[in-house]
Amino acid sequence: MNTERKQVLAFRALPPDQLARISALHEVTVADPSNPAQRAAFDEALPNAQGLIGSVFPVDAAMLARAPRLEVISSISVGVDNYALPALHARGIMLCHTPGVLTETTADTLFGLVMACSRRLVDLAQLVRDGGWKGNIGQDLFGWDVHGKTLGILGYGRIGQAVARRGALGFGMPVLYHARRPHELPELAGRAQHAPLEAVLAQSDIVVVTLPLSDETRGLMGERQFASMKPGAIFINGARGAIVDENALLAALDSGHLRAAGLDVFATEPLPLDSPLRRHPKVTPLPHAGSATHETRHAMAELATTNLLRALAGEEPVARYATGGV
Ligand code: DGY
Repeated sequence: MNTERKQVLAFRALPPDQLARISALHEVTVADPSNPAQRAAFDEALPNAQGLIGSVFPVDAAMLARAPRLEVISSISVGVDNYALPALHARGIMLCHTPGVLTETTADTLFGLVMACSRRLVDLAQLVRDGGWKGNIGQDLFGWDVHGKTLGILGYGRIGQAVARRGALGFGMPVLYHARRPHELPELAGRAQHAPLEAVLAQSDIVVVTLPLSDETRGLMGERQFASMKPGAIFINGARGAIVDENALLAALDSGHLRAAGLDVFATEPLPLDSPLRRHPKVTPLPHAGSATHETRHAMAELATTNLLRALAGEEPVARYATGGV
């Protein structure tokens, strides 16, 4: 085990207990490069950093070139699309991430979007807040049942499977999923079926995207795919915004082909104020909050800290991402 005190740069604030774990063993600078007040401290610490821990900020090849001593990046996220994977692989810099600890929370959020869109929860709450509840609501504010509808899931990793369990076991929904290969989950036997993308889109009432962003999935949902969804279907994206052509989604909503969309992720985040998705009456937008509970965000920071400390000590981290592919 390597006990040398190393230089760590946290590019996002950490919970105090996790910061204390790192500080006990290493020299830590906390500086978020997206905060103009902290940018200079980040730039100053980067050339010496041996470990990076944080999330969201894109760590591209140019940034890596300014970090010649870097040994490990520990991401406080499961998704790793904001890291220059080929450059990390070429330099032998280890990348760690946080799968598992956010699965159930993220699936809860996605199912929350399913419910909000189907049952018009945000519209109804707004009506009450605005003082517009004057009597029984009329058909114009009625929702659409969720139970018994066909649930389509694109991507059937941990989060996709957790969404499937909620739909199939909690709401009696037949599940169709699109993934590279079938997954036989005993608890979903006879309830969830592997199918090609086209079939999932054409037969599902509610489609939920849980795919990772990759060259294969970028722009996967475009005009043709939205057109092939069932008329009146609902579209939910809790994965990455770049998987969706947002103009094509808007066109499918505006034409009346789709009933509604629940979006936790966008091509540009934070969502620009002039984005038509922000105030669209058929869109329920969330601020990339899939894993945002006190418990889960802390568990993510804790796992990322453990990964970082193990990697810096020359030990195998709990969750290392294969930057060269598997
Ligand atoms: C993740 O963990 O990848 C979430 O989307 C937060 O970025």
